[in-house]
Amino acid sequence: MASTTSPPRIVPSVLPADFSRLGEECRLLERAGVDRIQWDVMDGVFVPNMTMGPDVIASVRPLVDLGFEAHLMVMEPDRMLRHWVDAGCETVIVHAEATPHLHRTLDAVRELGARAGVAVNPATPLSAVEHVLDLVDLLLVMTVNPGWGGQSYLSSMEPKIAAARELIGRTGREIELEVDGGIGRGTIADAARAGATTFCAGSALFRERGRLAEEVDALRALAADAAPGSGQDPQPENPGREAA
Ligand code: DX5
Repeated sequence: MASTTSPPRIVPSVLPADFSRLGEECRLLERAGVDRIQWDVMDGVFVPNMTMGPDVIASVRPLVDLGFEAHLMVMEPDRMLRHWVDAGCETVIVHAEATPHLHRTLDAVRELGARAGVAVNPATPLSAVEHVLDLVDLLLVMTVNPGWGGQSYLSSMEPKIAAARELIGRTGREIELEVDGGIGRGTIADAARAGATTFCAGSALFRERGRLAEEVDALRALAADAAPGSGQDPQPENPGREAA
């Protein structure tokens, strides 16, 4: 279970992968030492893009030993929850904006024996999830508006990431705090400094196919060095104090 003292997790999104060679691409990610794989499921309604169904995930399942998380960017996620779990996803992330009965939906994910995750889009306040945190194992703060890979990281989400870290701290529960969107060498440290411990990256990894393990290591090191309490990234002693 993650906390800010946990080593950072690097979770590639396969959105930018070559879908004609998805199994090989996932094996490449496994060999590069990623922590698990995120499947960006899109229905063309909740987000203006469509991607894969459970059968695609199931076809890759036997090829790698990595954990799978289904990031459901779909309306009415309840309708197919079992299919994602049966396809081999041990974590199912639903969007707070996609169901009128979020508490019931998260409970249904747990009833299926999966880890329950909840995601919030940039405009969605954390108040949308504060009453369901007892049901979640993972909170995903989107740092782009979902639908496409390769978008720019929204640094305006950092206060929200920090507030999410605070909120999780007050629950006393080990809830993973993940960020997703525009994560790469230039942004991961800021997200880690704000309190994120799990980092979903798509473009930043797939554009480095030739040196993927090094890129995974580099991202993990940047996040570890920037994490609060790492000692590597001294915070100003007293930001308000005049320089000596
Ligand atoms: C929402 C998707 C993307 C993807 C990562 O659009 O969830 O955020 O995972 O995309 P990159 O890392 O390319 O921004």
